[in-house]
Amino acid sequence: MSEHRGTDATEVHHRLTIIVIIATLISAVGGILFGFDTGVISGAILFLQQEWHLTTGEESIATSSVLIGAIVGAILGGYMADRFGRKISVIIGSVMFIVGTLIVVVSDGLTVFVPGRILIGMAIGLASFIVPMYISELAPRRIRGALVSFNQLFVTAGILISYAVNNYFSATGDWQAMFAVGLIPGVILLVGMAFMPFSPRWLVYKGRNDQAKKVLQRVHGTQDVQGEINQIEKEIKVETKGLKALLANFVRYPLIIGVGLAIFQQITGVNTIIYYAPTIFQYAGFGSASASIAATTGVGVANFLVTVLAVLIVDRVGRRPLLLIGIAGMVISLVVLGAGFALSSGTTGGTVGTVTALSLIAYISFFAIGLGPVFWLLISEIFPLEVRGTAMSVATVANWGANFIITLTFLHLVELLGQSGTFWLFAAIGVVSFIFAWRLTPETKGLSLERIEEHFKKGGHPRDLRPPRP
Ligand code: BGC
Repeated sequence: MSEHRGTDATEVHHRLTIIVIIATLISAVGGILFGFDTGVISGAILFLQQEWHLTTGEESIATSSVLIGAIVGAILGGYMADRFGRKISVIIGSVMFIVGTLIVVVSDGLTVFVPGRILIGMAIGLASFIVPMYISELAPRRIRGALVSFNQLFVTAGILISYAVNNYFSATGDWQAMFAVGLIPGVILLVGMAFMPFSPRWLVYKGRNDQAKKVLQRVHGTQDVQGEINQIEKEIKVETKGLKALLANFVRYPLIIGVGLAIFQQITGVNTIIYYAPTIFQYAGFGSASASIAATTGVGVANFLVTVLAVLIVDRVGRRPLLLIGIAGMVISLVVLGAGFALSSGTTGGTVGTVTALSLIAYISFFAIGLGPVFWLLISEIFPLEVRGTAMSVATVANWGANFIITLTFLHLVELLGQSGTFWLFAAIGVVSFIFAWRLTPETKGLSLERIEEHFKKGGHPRDLRPPRP
């Protein structure tokens, strides 16, 4: 029998209880905030620019300040998640989001607007990883992938909602109202989380075992949870905490995987594709006036629908196959997209245009089945409990940092390499990320978090981690 079987003390099948479903749905509202703020700025900026007569430099500060905030939030979040716990950190995040949104809504110039956006960014940076962490620590392992991926599903829903909001309010140019809509999910998250349980794993980590026992009994719908508590306790051995603990040998592989996938998720170009969609659809001959709306909505809908599919199959098919198929598909779509640009050179419509448009939809669909959800899922699973906050924070900082760099450099890249050259560069980076994912991504489906932790603590290679036989 292979070494990956047999020692899982939580081998018992836990039921999916109503409290876990509600906690997933409420906390994943954090994903809506994430997605909503990714999208809403693209609609609002047009009116801000008119009203405040922004220069190009000021416009880019207005747009990118949220990313700077997210990096800061991701840094602080690591400490907060371990110190105050996952639940309280998400509550603090929602308060920051609400306050930030109020500041933005009443602002009458960049000096007030930018700090508000930074605060919103901090909330999002924090929630972007603490929500997946919280869900993964509550979820029964057999459907952990689906439940954690609800966060990504809500990110894509948030992007779609922002498009609808942008369309609705652009008739009147009411940018304050566009941002103010974010208050609704903000308040739902704040009030809802107050009633949700603490993460049982964090409670054990803090030595609050009695409380942990009660939570586990509630979330699993059974009295028999002592085995699980013992198992969680057994894995917490390391005395060093914080950044120093990241140097421990058993954190090395998870950290390389987490940070690597974080960077690859961004430098394969997803946010530039979301941003560039309108232009590409214009090339495809979709007509200029409605092209922008059709393009952004089309990409958003594909992103959302395929993420639904990912949620449905991630625990059956597994993380590795989805990631590898997703990246391979992205590479092929990018090659075709680049070729479409190279061939169409200025002419619109026709077969080339259609192929270009389809490859764009294919690209976002492959992102949505792989790198989109699987990155956030894996980083919520692979880090040992005593470093989970700090390590997830490091991976998340890498993700938002790479997002920031790509956002700043994309237009320069296009100037330098042309559109086809830029997409082919993303394709080449995609090939590197495929090799990286192939060599290092573990299969975590069906395994308890303690089992995954034990594997790395024994010095196991990520590829040797395999799911239990059914
Ligand atoms: C990424 C975001 C991206 C979003 C698109 C997320 O997983 O981290 O950068 O905008 O997916 O759906």
